[in-house]
Amino acid sequence: MKKITIAIDGHSSCGKSTMAKDLAREIGYIYIDSGAMYRAVTYYCLQHDFFTENSVNMEELQAAMKDIHINFRLNGEGRPETYLGDTCIEKEIRGMAVSSRVSLIATIGFVREAMVALQQEMGKEKGIVMDGRDIGTTVFPDAELKIFVTASAEVRAQRRYDELKAKGEEASYESILENVKERDRIDSGRTISPLRKADDAILLDNSGMTIPEQKAWLMERFNEVVNK
Ligand code: CDP
Repeated sequence: MKKITIAIDGHSSCGKSTMAKDLAREIGYIYIDSGAMYRAVTYYCLQHDFFTENSVNMEELQAAMKDIHINFRLNGEGRPETYLGDTCIEKEIRGMAVSSRVSLIATIGFVREAMVALQQEMGKEKGIVMDGRDIGTTVFPDAELKIFVTASAEVRAQRRYDELKAKGEEASYESILENVKERDRIDSGRTISPLRKADDAILLDNSGMTIPEQKAWLMERFNEVVNK
């Protein structure tokens, strides 16, 4: 069967990574979480005190880019985890400290250029499912299957809240909702590769869908493309 490239873009916290990961496992493709890469850069900035109150020290970050080695490794359960060099940072990059700063980092041109180059390298053999904001528009404009996922901000905040609670972490629904809306605003309004649906992407509003329903929907789309 021919291998294709699958791009899954959409708003924050709408379950893109769950659906992308499930699909990749089901069809034996590699899954890459491009958001984790922007989160890893943000984490590095926090670790090295590059942030001032509302901004980041661009000179320091630009000089540090050559030292930021992001990679993914499978854990004992076969799930990919994000690494900076040899250090696993999967848990650290999901907390609010990173979530509240990542969209700022993702507006920076030299950061995006470096991440996009790495993503294109990872996907050059096809057989990949990548999720993010600009995968169908900038990273893989020729992807054979493009999905654009959305859901209401309230549904998304509730899902993120449930996810953090299930991991036993402190969370406030109000501040998560605020963060979801703020990230949408920054992601859609930035100059470089703003979040937008590619013209040839299929729109999926999953507000009222369960995970199994969504999975079935996605498998149908995949089969349509590979059997064409
Ligand atoms: O999982 P969630 O939807 O909350 O976010 P994520 O996929 O981990 O991405 C975190 C942030 O990285 C987003 O809010 C964007 O600001 C940025 N991002 C981006 O600009 N381009 C991508 N391809 C992926 C993420």
